[in-house]
Amino acid sequence: MSLRKLVAGNWKMNGRMAQLEEALAVAAANPDPAAELLLCPPATLIAAMSQALTGSSVAVGGQDCHAAEAGAHTGDISAGMLADAGASHVILGHSERRADHRETDADVAAKTRAAWAAGLVAIVCVGETEVQRDAGKTLAVIGAQLAGSLPEGATGANTVIAYEPVWAIGTGRTPTGEQIAQVHAFLRQNAPDATIRLLYGGSVNPGNASDIFAIDNVDGALVGGASLKARDFNAIIAAANGT
Ligand code: 13P
Repeated sequence: MSLRKLVAGNWKMNGRMAQLEEALAVAAANPDPAAELLLCPPATLIAAMSQALTGSSVAVGGQDCHAAEAGAHTGDISAGMLADAGASHVILGHSERRADHRETDADVAAKTRAAWAAGLVAIVCVGETEVQRDAGKTLAVIGAQLAGSLPEGATGANTVIAYEPVWAIGTGRTPTGEQIAQVHAFLRQNAPDATIRLLYGGSVNPGNASDIFAIDNVDGALVGGASLKARDFNAIIAAANGT
């Protein structure tokens, strides 16, 4: 089965109001894309970006949410607040959140439930470290993350899975096509629903995107650095549209 590709940009902790121009340039270049498009700016820009992109082909998402709906959680943002600000998606369990904020699989599962309850699509991230890969534990690690982070009830309508090898994030290094294919085949076998899209993330750029999109069971990309500039992100989108 071929699923519509999703090209998602994760701006991480980058971007000010002035960078909304980049988002507008992505929308302007892609009035009717074959792929589904998403930008996940920092929380401070979600409302403004959503307003700026209203009626365009580019959806807006958050990068994290709290598991609770509301309450005494200083500095946190709930899934309902993201939806209220115009988000349709939220990235959960990114390796930077797992590392910087000690998020566990159980935390990610609770956040995923909260995202679904708010009507958001959860983009649940998994991926091995270099030490784990070198020890031959890649599939065991990813299998455990998937089992622990994805609650019952995941479907293609409410969930996307992103495979992001930690060692490939922001390093310019990417796995071989065979390595990506192996993990994505494993994810396809273990995902609870055949319509859940499987994104690859980690140093995707205009030069390698076509090759990555051509790999079996790769249904899109989660792009960090190369999503910050419309020119690069548009080139990656063009590669997805061509597959
Ligand atoms: P880079 O594309 O900058 O390697 O980041 C990948 C990533 O972590 C996306 O979530």
